[in-house]
Amino acid sequence: MKTQNILVLIGGISRDSLNRRLYDELVRVNETNLRFSTFDISALPFYSQDLESDLPKAVVDFKQTVVAADALLLITPEYNRSFPGVLKNALDWGSRPYGKGIWVRKPAAIAGASSGKIGTFGAQQHLRNVCSFLDMNMMCQPEFYFDASSSIIDGKLTDSSAAFLKKFLVSFQDFLNT
Ligand code: FNR
Repeated sequence: MKTQNILVLIGGISRDSLNRRLYDELVRVNETNLRFSTFDISALPFYSQDLESDLPKAVVDFKQTVVAADALLLITPEYNRSFPGVLKNALDWGSRPYGKGIWVRKPAAIAGASSGKIGTFGAQQHLRNVCSFLDMNMMCQPEFYFDASSSIIDGKLTDSSAAFLKKFLVSFQDFLNT
C-alpha cells in the first residue's frame, strides 16, 4: 500500500498542549502506511486582506506544505465550545484568494483532546462545519473525542485508548485508499 503523507494541524500551541500530546501518541502507536508531519500554525500572522498582495513567507510556506500533503489531520482543542482562533486563522489563510483555496477536495479527518468529559465535541462540530464549507473531503467516522482525564492515567495512555487510536488510524488509511 502506498505511503500517504499526512499534514497534521494542531490547534493547541501551548508548550504542554494536550493536543500536541495526542499527536505524539498517534505517531507512537501508528501501524499504518500514514506518515505524519506538522506545521506550526502559530507562525502565521493574523489573516488580513492587506497582506494578500505580498504574502508573508510563513504563509507561502504554509500553503506549499498543505498543497504537497496527501491529506490533513486536524487536531483541535475545545475553547469555549468551539475550536481555537489559531486554527481558524490557518483555515482562513488557505481559503484565499477567493476561488483559489487550497482546501478543495483535500481529504481530511478531525480529532481532538480536552480535559473535559465531552472531549471536544463542540469544537469538532464547528470545525466540521467550516471544513465542509471549504469543500474538504471529510472522513465522518469514526468520531474521535479524547477525554484526557480517562485516557491518560499516571502519564500513560490506557490500553483501550491506544487500541482506539490505532483503529482510528486504520480507518483513516482505509478512507484514503478507497
Ligand atoms: C478551555 N477548556 C475547555 N474544555 C472543554 O472541554 N470545553 C471548553 O469549552 C473549554 N474551553 C476552554 C477555553 C479556553 C480559553 C481554555 C484555555 C481552555 C479546557 C481545555 O480542554 C484544556 O485547557 C486543554 O488542555 C486544551 O487543549 P491544549 O491547548 O492543551 O491542547
